[in-house]
Amino acid sequence: MRGALILAGVLAAVPLARADRFVNGPYLQNATPASVTLMWESDGAAPATITIHGAAGAPPRVIEVAATAHAEVVVDGLAAGARYRYEVKLGDRVAKGELTTAPPPGAPVPLTFVVYGDTRSSSDAHRQLVERIRAEVPDFLLGTGDLVDDGAIKGQWQTFFDVEGPLLADNVFYPALGNHDRQGRARSAEAYRARFALPEGGTDPERVYAFTYGPARFVVLDSNSASFALTDQTAWLERELAAARQDKAIRHVFVVMHHPPYSISIHGGQRDLRERWTPLFEKYGVAAVFSGHDHCYERAEANGVRYFVSGGGGAPLYARGKRIAAIDRDAVKRYERVSHYLRVHVIGARIEVTAVRVDGTPIETIAWGDDDDAPAPLVAAAGAPPAAAVAAPPAAVAAGDVAAAIAPRRSSGGAGAPIVPVAAVGGLVAVAALVLVRKRK
Ligand SMILES: [Fe+2]
Repeated sequence: MRGALILAGVLAAVPLARADRFVNGPYLQNATPASVTLMWESDGAAPATITIHGAAGAPPRVIEVAATAHAEVVVDGLAAGARYRYEVKLGDRVAKGELTTAPPPGAPVPLTFVVYGDTRSSSDAHRQLVERIRAEVPDFLLGTGDLVDDGAIKGQWQTFFDVEGPLLADNVFYPALGNHDRQGRARSAEAYRARFALPEGGTDPERVYAFTYGPARFVVLDSNSASFALTDQTAWLERELAAARQDKAIRHVFVVMHHPPYSISIHGGQRDLRERWTPLFEKYGVAAVFSGHDHCYERAEANGVRYFVSGGGGAPLYARGKRIAAIDRDAVKRYERVSHYLRVHVIGARIEVTAVRVDGTPIETIAWGDDDDAPAPLVAAAGAPPAAAVAAPPAAVAAGDVAAAIAPRRSSGGAGAPIVPVAAVGGLVAVAALVLVRKRK
């Protein structure tokens, strides 16, 4: 939402009529090593005040925001890999949260992110999953798309943010554009664009972008059929992947896009994506591809690349397809029709993906990359046994092996707790105590 960018430090000259109700947010976008973007919508143009609380003993920083109904404030000048408490005061309303900046690019720090998607159509199921995810302590969230059923309907966006509000107030959210998020005959994405502020530099703002978070590069694509035929996106993708591979500080590359190249559920794998993009994922050693669109959990592997379908965020769950193509059947190693999310830990060369049902039980944990950067066989660790097609024998990989080495970055003491720079947490690996449950505000 570049056009509505509100520069920090601008004072409203004349207070307008009362418009001091948060309609959406505040919610977090686009963490860089020096900044995080705060967004919210109010029920009329109104000025607001942001207060950023830094390290204990440091004076808070106050940012005055000019009157607007759609705020997009880049809070910059922050320390890398640090956590801050913040408050947004709108009229007599005060919303509180915590934000975490990204570590320096290439920093070999452990990181954790959550993946989920297809949150449309059932706010109750969506809310249950959000409540479960709130018990996690990720660095950020990846959305696999179809946030709403119809991107043209404002009320559905309202429902999305009503449900997501408590989660997105504390966690930066990076979505991919789903087919349902678009609007009108032109299948435009203006409503989606207006609600998110994502990294620049891709071929299409908010629809195609990439960002670096510590040792990993994340590439988010628009896989909608009217989009992925565009050669500029494919050419951009290859440039991104090639550059990441040439950058010695980037150890892992992850891709997010709504449609899956491989799936045994109702929609099935997308042939166009297999023809255009999966060869690039293979060529440049993408660590994992996260998709949605089919409302279930699936794990696939093809030519050394791992693919996950995480489309169990609230939308009606999908059965297996009636006609499954051989290429999908060969690739998919695990399927479950269940509301769920993925918790991904990255520590050094190791990547650990745990699929978690909405009731908190694990579907499975898959880990690879322990020894070196070369592709490693998949190993299964938790939940029911994987499909027989997985060649590697089960290994002694506890679901929490990596988690035990990653310290929580958020305070467990709520708004009154001291803020600890992540760097100070550091040697994250050495921190023994692990508190993965955040105190609810
Ligand atoms: Fe979809």
